[in-house]
Amino acid sequence: MTINRRTVLAAGAAGVAAAGTAPAFAAGSAEPVGGRPTKALFGTLSDGRRVHRWTVAAGGTRLRVLSYGGIVQSLEIPDRHGRYANVSLGFDRLEDYVSGSPYFGAIIGRYGNRIARGAFTLDGITYRLPVNDGPNSLHGGDKGFDKRVWDVEPYAQGPDTGLTLRYVSADGEMGYPGTLRIRVDYVLTPRGDFRIDYKATTDRATVVNLTNHTYFNLAGEGTGSILDHTLRIAASRYTPVDSTLIPTGELARVARTPFDFRNGKPIGRDIREAHPQVLFGSGYDHNFALDKGPTEAPRRVITVTEPVSGRVMHIATTEPGVQFYSGNFLDATLAGTSGKVYRQGDGFCLETQHFPDSPNQPSFPSTVLRPGQTYRSTTVHSFAAR
Ligand code: BGC
Repeated sequence: MTINRRTVLAAGAAGVAAAGTAPAFAAGSAEPVGGRPTKALFGTLSDGRRVHRWTVAAGGTRLRVLSYGGIVQSLEIPDRHGRYANVSLGFDRLEDYVSGSPYFGAIIGRYGNRIARGAFTLDGITYRLPVNDGPNSLHGGDKGFDKRVWDVEPYAQGPDTGLTLRYVSADGEMGYPGTLRIRVDYVLTPRGDFRIDYKATTDRATVVNLTNHTYFNLAGEGTGSILDHTLRIAASRYTPVDSTLIPTGELARVARTPFDFRNGKPIGRDIREAHPQVLFGSGYDHNFALDKGPTEAPRRVITVTEPVSGRVMHIATTEPGVQFYSGNFLDATLAGTSGKVYRQGDGFCLETQHFPDSPNQPSFPSTVLRPGQTYRSTTVHSFAAR
């Protein structure tokens, strides 16, 4: 049975406080569901800049977003009984995000995922990027878009509500050419879908690969392992990597490997197989080449189901790939929003994107953006409970 999300919305909003099941409701910030986005001070950076947390809700989904990194700090959805939980890993203090978050909830750019040896050549010029992951550049360098303060304002279009985030990345920032003007809309639809629309323009040729790095646990953050979640990915191929997680350039078949999620299976079923690719990633940390390829409109390619709560998340995207990361490097050194320590496999990411290292891989779909062009990317998360 699929629960009518509007009904759940009314029941769930009241039920949260009474049942005490949702740890993410910080004192004084509980909002009536729906209405205009609201903001509250979340913290102050060491240079004095203030960081706000915005709250927006619609159709049974409640989202909290920080102006720092565009971080999805909390995402609350109901289970099959209408009980809400925050299903995204994160912190309740700005200091924790600043001092060493593994990209919890953040907007990733200018180039999500890895660029080999922190270098690429475009129009005959070689650009050097900060190397921050072994020999490679990861997620836009050591001060990527996840560590920038974004301008945030309410978004409203038709029946949708949400937030518009803007950031201007200077020419040369983190080694990338061109002034990049980025707009990210976090949109909630009346039925509670969470849509992310990315747009960017540049004044010099550059490379762009934006994504969001939310770690999900559909049983609720801080409740333990995600290995029982069932995952389906409509991808017949993936991009195998070397030991530093750079694609070899091959598009390998998933058939008869631990990477075959085409029919849906528990994340943990094959995660301990001694397949060389699983060993490289200490689990799943791989880009799946979606069968649909890049599309103008988002197409549904992923379904995740958590068996106990009954929560289901579908993902539709315009992107050709998705990095499925099974939280392998969470190592019990961070305590999250609800105070519980995150261990390996306590959250998973599904980062819709172009393929890793595309600027150095001519056979992969291009990530080059030129003046006069507009980068566009859309990913929709929709939720159900059954
Ligand atoms: C990468 C992982 C990395 C994680 C967080 C993911 O997108 O693929 O290798 O550990 O981000 O840092």
